[in-house]
Amino acid sequence: MEDFMELIRKRRTIRQFRPEEIPTGILLELADLGRLAPSAANLQPLEFIIVQDPEVRKMVFPWLRWAAYISPAGNPRPGQEPVAYIVILVNTLIRQKGYEYDVGAAAENIILGALTRGIGSCWLISVDRDRLKNILEIPDDYKIDSVLALGYPSESPVVESFQGSVKYWKDENDTLHVPKRNLSEVIHLNRFGRRIEA
Ligand SMILES: Cc1cc2nc3c(=O)[nH]c(=O)nc-3n(C[C@H](O)[C@H](O)[C@H](O)COP(=O)(O)O)c2cc1C
Repeated sequence: MEDFMELIRKRRTIRQFRPEEIPTGILLELADLGRLAPSAANLQPLEFIIVQDPEVRKMVFPWLRWAAYISPAGNPRPGQEPVAYIVILVNTLIRQKGYEYDVGAAAENIILGALTRGIGSCWLISVDRDRLKNILEIPDDYKIDSVLALGYPSESPVVESFQGSVKYWKDENDTLHVPKRNLSEVIHLNRFGRRIEA
């Protein structure tokens, strides 16, 4: 594996995937990384549905919303849809609110773990929870927080430095450009407002 920090720097949200299945063992390993994430008060309110069955994922796909800033240009093209999902559930009998930090930690564990296996992902919060609850037969005590769409990447988005807009965009070669605020803007050294050179 390449240097872990380099992997984190290179991670980009992927919305175009190759039509190649992810082995079940890897999906289980990824969900396990979610299980092992930090959890406030160690309450562990999260559970995970792995969706890999082609019939089920075909039913899930229409209820996901992709790349709102550039819609519909960011939608997975036909044949480039995700090949698996990990749906992040909250057991509301354990926690009704305040679980969002746990979700963040679990999701990033899964996203970065996937990347170590060459798997790209898109974390989706814009999902039709009612439809998905129905399709996935989720009981009322559980709520869907978000969905991780997974697959081997067939696009290579690039980071660019922030030039006044946070809106990601696609160029004429269909490459997605993702602006990130500059390091010197977000880091304060020892006291607020003391900037670093970058
Ligand atoms: C909590 C969360 C929810 C997101 N929901 C969606 C979503 O519903 N649809 C989508 O296409 N991307 C979604 N994204 C991906 C963001 O658009 C993406 O992270 C952002 O544009 C920065 O790009 P990067 O991940 O390549 O750094 C979400 C990201 C996060 C962290």
